[in-house]
Amino acid sequence: MKVVDLRSDTVTRPDRGMLDAMMQAEVGDDVFNEDPTVLLLQEMVADLLGKDEALFVPSGTMSNQIAVALHTRPGDEVLLEAGSHIRNYESGAAAALWGVQLCPVSGKRGILAADDVIASIRTGYEWEPVPRLLCVENTNNKAGGTIYPLDRILELGEVAKNHGLGYHLDGARIWNASVATGVSEKEIAAPFDTVSVCLSKGLGTPLGSVLSGNRTIMERARRIRKRLGGGMRQVGIVAAAGIYAIQNNRASLSDDHKKASVLATGLSSMKSVTLDIETVETNIVVFDLNDGRLALDVLQALSSKGIRMIPFGPKTIRATTHRDVTMSDIELALDVAQTVLT
Ligand SMILES: Cc1ncc(COP(=O)(O)O)c(C=O)c1O
Repeated sequence: MKVVDLRSDTVTRPDRGMLDAMMQAEVGDDVFNEDPTVLLLQEMVADLLGKDEALFVPSGTMSNQIAVALHTRPGDEVLLEAGSHIRNYESGAAAALWGVQLCPVSGKRGILAADDVIASIRTGYEWEPVPRLLCVENTNNKAGGTIYPLDRILELGEVAKNHGLGYHLDGARIWNASVATGVSEKEIAAPFDTVSVCLSKGLGTPLGSVLSGNRTIMERARRIRKRLGGGMRQVGIVAAAGIYAIQNNRASLSDDHKKASVLATGLSSMKSVTLDIETVETNIVVFDLNDGRLALDVLQALSSKGIRMIPFGPKTIRATTHRDVTMSDIELALDVAQTVLT
């Protein structure tokens, strides 16, 4: 049976070109800061994002958590969107590792408004937690890959500055935001103190994320990475995949966006589906079931016919397009979905 795996853009496998780049990587011990390929990747990403420094880490979760550690002390408060990855999908790390409190602020389609953030910033009484960091996720995963307009990023940056907050971007899918809007990664990243980007989502590497920022804030980043067990040795083999992906796989993300758009249009015409097509700006399609069935039951029915998606709530499902699914896979997925969702 043909399987179309739309669970995540992380399910991709490295292609021949990427594997060749990995095989040819020059390596050294990166804990001694001596892996030339890692150093090159870090330099490339710092350059691309307009920051002084960048640090290669195994995962987006570790990258975000190092950022939280850099900006906060135990007892501090971190403001973020209610559906954000840092709050919902990092196993409670911010509380467990750094002893910080998270202050969720609801966004519209996952996008924070400046007034709502300002209304959530505490006034400074000693019995309150100290607000220390504002996090933005672009694109926003939970809301369906939605994009922050650049002026909103700048406006929120002003809010952060005026209230003495650090400003962190979870840019796991910054590449998608950039390709979809034509705004460069550097412009998107500019107002932020720290930026985390993932190489293992749409760009297709087996693993790896990069945290970047200016010299002062990044001073302790290597130590925290080591503390978390993220110091790796001849990891240039993986960094080479990252370099290859940045050079070769960014532009084709627009194909993933086209596939998501076709998928969303098809799904939205099915009787059991409620889908706000406006939310589908990049490669993620989130939809609700309106016929009383549970997501898990529908997913089981789809999966038994080779179409894989994931639950995003009791009656909510997420499908994500990526480089390992073709447009004809999407058409097949729609044909099958038609039999389950009408
Ligand atoms: C928005 C966002 N941030 C961070 C992460 C974490 O990345 P990782 O799975 O590499 O820890 C993800 C993973 O899907 C994500 O979607």
